[in-house]
Amino acid sequence: MNKPLHKFFTEDHRRIEDLLDKATGNPDEYRMEYYQQFRTGLLTHIKMEEKILFPAAQKANNNVPLPIAARLRLEHGALTALMVPPPTEELIKVIRYLLEQHDIAEEEPGGMYDACENLTQHQTQELLDQLSKVTEVPLNPLNHAPFALEAAKRALQRAGYDYDEIVK
Ligand SMILES: [Fe+2]
Ligand SMILES: [Fe+2]
Repeated sequence: MNKPLHKFFTEDHRRIEDLLDKATGNPDEYRMEYYQQFRTGLLTHIKMEEKILFPAAQKANNNVPLPIAARLRLEHGALTALMVPPPTEELIKVIRYLLEQHDIAEEEPGGMYDACENLTQHQTQELLDQLSKVTEVPLNPLNHAPFALEAAKRALQRAGYDYDEIVK
């Protein structure tokens, strides 16, 4: 089966991972121009899912949220909060870990993207058109205050993950 939405979002996952790899390739000196592109890419990707793809799927599902949607939304909240503190080795490890779990749940056979694709079959092109028009999320500066990291840890906890366990 041709799966244009699955392809669109999966390719965006790979593009975003590539930006993170470029940003953190040298652990002694992160390349912030790539890290900022990574933050913009990830936040804009989440916006496309939360504002366009997931609502369209829910609507096509008689307005019943898909079972996995609540978990993915909590993870989007955690990823968004993790974009606020400045990157450190620990923070990057946690971001990578959560992104991996999250992307599997979306991409795997029978996962969120397949469910969305099936439910919205009659409007695939319309959704692709809407997605192509999404504007980039404007970035706030990184926040070096300790509470920014604490808030990210709490958001992660709400999504069912423990920061300190992941960095161990
Ligand atoms: Fe997502
Ligand atoms: Fe995604």
